[in-house]
Amino acid sequence: MKSRIEWVGHNCRLLHRISTEFRQTRPFAGMTIGTGIHLEPKTVALILTLQAGGARLVSTGNLNTTQQSAIDYLAARGVTVIGRPTRDRDEHQTYLRQVIAEKPDLILDNGGDLFCLYLDDRYEGLLGGTEETTSGRMRLAALRSVLSMPILVINDSPIKQFAENEHAVGQSVLESYMRITNRITNGQRVTVFGYGACGRGVAGNMRAANAKVSVVDTDPLKRLQAHLDGYDTPKREEAIASADFIVTVTGAGKVLGVDDMAHFKDGAILANAGHFPVEIDADAIATSDLVEARTAYEDGIESLRLRDGRTIHVISQGHMFNLAGPRPMGNSIESMDLGFALQARSLEAIARGLVSRDACVVAVPRNIDERVANAFLEARYA
Ligand SMILES: NC(=O)c1ccc[n+]([C@@H]2O[C@H](COP(=O)([O-])OP(=O)(O)OC[C@H]3O[C@@H](n4cnc5c(N)ncnc54)[C@H](O)[C@@H]3O)[C@@H](O)[C@H]2O)c1
Repeated sequence: MKSRIEWVGHNCRLLHRISTEFRQTRPFAGMTIGTGIHLEPKTVALILTLQAGGARLVSTGNLNTTQQSAIDYLAARGVTVIGRPTRDRDEHQTYLRQVIAEKPDLILDNGGDLFCLYLDDRYEGLLGGTEETTSGRMRLAALRSVLSMPILVINDSPIKQFAENEHAVGQSVLESYMRITNRITNGQRVTVFGYGACGRGVAGNMRAANAKVSVVDTDPLKRLQAHLDGYDTPKREEAIASADFIVTVTGAGKVLGVDDMAHFKDGAILANAGHFPVEIDADAIATSDLVEARTAYEDGIESLRLRDGRTIHVISQGHMFNLAGPRPMGNSIESMDLGFALQARSLEAIARGLVSRDACVVAVPRNIDERVANAFLEARYA
């Protein structure tokens, strides 16, 4: 029987076509590409596509999302895989440093970690690279003047925004909530923190699953947008107090913390879908004096009984929960195939010297977006 990695690879139609082309054109011949992105079946397809272009790949994962099967699959195909699945930040930093120690010519980053470590320990020959996420863009944009090299932000492509962040994260959050908790959504009150592209998708999918959805966003324009989209936009405390399920997807830190514990509804479930495990201050909440007892359930659910008799539940200790729990799938294959085609084409453009140093922490050029959109539609209707 073939593995899930094979199934995903088979369905990444864009990456499959690009690999076939890259085997002929070899845009990365003689280069090393360092990657610090989740190691799971879809990124396996991306990493092997880059390898097909002639690159030597040195890859590590992100905190708490690495899958051993992905490590094994890549290592068996000649990729230098560094590290193992871990939740330990220091251990993870060590792995990232080992990637930079290999002096890659190109970096594929997810959260800005590799580029930040490169600044601590610079070397000759780095041509530039890509950053996948909103969170990484926020970190790296502040460092533009010192980075001064082509860095294309995949997240800021319109394709990534609507195909992955909105449609796919929304579906994936709904799927993960049901898979991990096995709880009903119909008639439940759901509060979504953050109404960017991801939050819009989460709110839309929860509404489609017959939940009553409220939105909290610090930006009044986003609150207005949510209101006009038909969601409740109550005050923060009210939105917390009424929610059966609260999901954070903001890119910001300490969105929910100890101060909110007074307001949580009895039985509320808290989960984070933002990139870093900082949106819910999960450790501080779990170790607060207000907690009387902690019960860990299978699949990363922790229940906290509070001294006043209420119980709240935290999923996956505030780590990105759509890549956690049993059989974590993440976003749909097609949405990731689109984003990863942008990755492959962006790295190709930088390797070929087609992107100037001024394009430092900027969106993917429009011509790459158009090429990927046309390729997807052609493959879809071929
Ligand atoms: N789970 C996944 O599979 C997945 C996929 C893509 C992106 N992400 C991550 O999701 C997060 C959000 O991404 P996005 O593209 O929607 O970002 P975005 O910047 O478009 O939107 C974030 C929104 O959160 C709001 N916000 C910030 N701080 C807030 C706070 N304290 N309370 C309430 N609202 C607040 C902002 O005003 C903004 O409207 C990022 O961390 C991103 O890396 C996750």
